Amino acid sequence: MILDLTRLNSVSESQFGELPVLEINNASCSGTISLFGGHILSFKPKHDQRERLWLSDTAITDKSKPIRGGIPICWPWFANIFPSVQTPNEQLPAHGFVRTQDWLLVDATENDSSTRLVLQPKKLGLYAFSASLRVCLEVTFGAELTVKLITTYDKNEDVQAKVASAQAPLAITMALHSYLAVSDINKCELVGVEADYIDKLANDSITTTPSPYIFDQEVDRIHMSTQSAPLHTVSVNDAKTTTLKQQGHDALVVWNPWIDKSSGMADMQHDGYKSMLCVEAAVVNPITLNYGEKHELIQTIS
Ligand code: BG6
Repeated sequence: MILDLTRLNSVSESQFGELPVLEINNASCSGTISLFGGHILSFKPKHDQRERLWLSDTAITDKSKPIRGGIPICWPWFANIFPSVQTPNEQLPAHGFVRTQDWLLVDATENDSSTRLVLQPKKLGLYAFSASLRVCLEVTFGAELTVKLITTYDKNEDVQAKVASAQAPLAITMALHSYLAVSDINKCELVGVEADYIDKLANDSITTTPSPYIFDQEVDRIHMSTQSAPLHTVSVNDAKTTTLKQQGHDALVVWNPWIDKSSGMADMQHDGYKSMLCVEAAVVNPITLNYGEKHELIQTIS
């Protein structure tokens, strides 16, 4: 952390297991963000006091693994779609390298009803990925939670790197891997997702989205946003409704490990799958940034 937090009324330092976190408490909501991974762990609006994010009771907090739950930041690649990296694939971590990095708080502002925090990873340029590509996370904790993942390709002070970058467009993929809290996955419906999806559990076969979209088995699906089936607003209807809005994405990834996989995961309780659903705003088709360009992936949760 490099900012003096004493000037802010709504932010305080705390711990999640062994990890340093910031607790946010303002007139509209409470929330938590971990400096390991720039990882949001909790968002609870005050108007209904309902936690929107799921966090594993057995999450590992010794920095050996990403935190299970909350909103992991997948950057500069999603899953194993790493277009700009030369390193052999088997040496690359799934979902990029920033979810297992320490991040710094670089800016923070507050007003009567919201708190805005800006974080950046301490280290970039890992796995031979260009360090000229920067990322920052801008999170606004208010009546809604707004998460912006901003990628910029600029500001490298090294003249040689600058010249090299100017000649080399870079392609990236990414995701805001949101774990939503649900009261019972068996009674949950996802609304606003139509057309076909890529089924990661069936060799990427193209499959028709069920209607109603309910859950009774493991799901690992990439729903591509198209003109006829745009994915800009979706909601998870459970006992209550959670609404998500996205921008700057091309896909929504829907994931639940169900019984067998969650039983096999050290950082998820056996029945953990019952109370979560991942709905991830993702860039799956690589986007190419030229020197000086910027991309924003935005997800709002309410
Ligand atoms: C989803 C992927 O986004 O994340 C799944 O589509 C993956 O295939 C899941 O299993 C969890 O990934 P991880 O690396 O956090 O265990």
